[in-house]
Amino acid sequence: MSSDAGPGGGRGAADDRERRARRRPDRSPPQSDVAPGHDQSAAERPLPPYPDSLGPRVFHAAQWMRDPVDLLDRGGTDHDVFRAHLLGVGDWYQLCHPDHSKRVLLAEREKFRKSEDFGIAFGDGLLTVEGETWTRQRQTLQPLFVRESVRGAAGTMVEQVKRRVDRWTDGQRLALQSELTDLTLDVLFAAILGRELALDGDEKVRRAAEALHDWFVPTSYPLPQWIPTPARRRFREGKRTLQQEADRLLEEAARNPPDDPAEADDLMRLLAALRETDAVDAGMPSDEHLRDQMVTVIFAGHDTTTTSLTFALWALAEHPEVRERFHAEVDALDGPPTAEDIEAGRLEFTDRVVTETLRLFPPVYGLPRVADRDVTVDGYRVPEGERINVVLYRIQRDPRFFDRPDEFDPDRWTDEFRQSLHDFAYAPFGGGPRICIGRQFALLEATLALATIGRDYELYYLGEEGDDGGPPLSPQMTLRMEAGQEFLVTER
Ligand code: HEM
Repeated sequence: MSSDAGPGGGRGAADDRERRARRRPDRSPPQSDVAPGHDQSAAERPLPPYPDSLGPRVFHAAQWMRDPVDLLDRGGTDHDVFRAHLLGVGDWYQLCHPDHSKRVLLAEREKFRKSEDFGIAFGDGLLTVEGETWTRQRQTLQPLFVRESVRGAAGTMVEQVKRRVDRWTDGQRLALQSELTDLTLDVLFAAILGRELALDGDEKVRRAAEALHDWFVPTSYPLPQWIPTPARRRFREGKRTLQQEADRLLEEAARNPPDDPAEADDLMRLLAALRETDAVDAGMPSDEHLRDQMVTVIFAGHDTTTTSLTFALWALAEHPEVRERFHAEVDALDGPPTAEDIEAGRLEFTDRVVTETLRLFPPVYGLPRVADRDVTVDGYRVPEGERINVVLYRIQRDPRFFDRPDEFDPDRWTDEFRQSLHDFAYAPFGGGPRICIGRQFALLEATLALATIGRDYELYYLGEEGDDGGPPLSPQMTLRMEAGQEFLVTER
């Protein structure tokens, strides 16, 4: 794989990119668990550095609050492993190489656990639980998310997208991200939770779903958890609202549950059937657990897709040649896009646009874990109990794996390139057994939504430019575009 950095806009100036490409190959100790000096005991190994580029560590938290992606990107430019210090949280060990990602997510996953934050926020849902409970929950939920089941939701997805975008008008200025937040919630509720949200209503539920992300906002995350920040209050209120909604939906589904949970065609009917039959075996023994599951799916399943769609539409707006090819592809379809169109390769270019968008703008830009025991990474010691973050954003823009890493180039995704790529260099859905359960759903939704929009509309970006010529980023729990950026809608 070439490590040349090509032209294109990244975070930072052109000389920064050159420096990155020049330094990368030899910037870290050898990538093995054997520390330099073979008689050195694990306890004597050095801790990872605090990069000079981040300045004194008392300022790391302030940088994190201002822009976590910028901090991770700068630190990771010269270091595959480094530490950042967040007051109130402590040291955070950042891993920026796909070999590390593979160890944490797959090869040595028993040495790492999920961080407690998710448990505090989401109780005992699939995103959080570990061990036997996770295995049972995953096995129970998996059938709803396999390709064949998800495929059945394609019609509902397109219907929900059309319902909303049919109201767009020629010349309209649209705050796209907020519109797409509504759209992905429409889809999630209709396709997974079995309830159609009102187009202009259900504001309470919509606001509550948004508030789930407030637990992790960078401005309150580094502060001790007992401090009742406004974001944390919004989170708690939102969670309470969604728990009430879960109770309501469960009750509704319980009036007519399938006899066998395996026959359920949506999440609420599955959960209702479990309550009647084998909730304990499914790793969800109480109503509290069933509620946690629904809140988890809402949290994990809508903002991620919103940001992917927003960035994809930004990329199409800003790359006219790509846009033309995309429109040509969707115009050639016989009617509204379908799952068969995707399977027959008729949306192959659109699919590559989605793939490249998820590379440049991974909605989940870091995967947090905690070391369950002392581990050594690249010769550095990561002590038991310390927080780890696998920095997907940095890995997916690494010039050792992607030529012109900061450029949006859907054409890079040839079969040969996919085959030659390190298996963890591109992992927007994570990897190993805990890979995103919703990825088939998300990819289907993103491709169908883009194609549906592209058949009727062309969008132009009217918003601001970020520091690097890209869109202005606002990393929250997910990597978002800064709020309020407008797009111009033109009818085709
Ligand atoms: C573009 C959209 C999406 C992206 C980029 C994404 C990304 C991810 C990632 C990176 C993980 C792994 C987290 C970790 O290892 O710490 C994950 C897990 C998960 N995702 Fe997604 N996700 C997306 C859409 C969805 C959707 C649509 C759903 C549900 C409808 C969903 C539900 C989940 C759940 C429940 C987990 C936990 C799985 C487990 O631990 O077994 N995600 N997602």
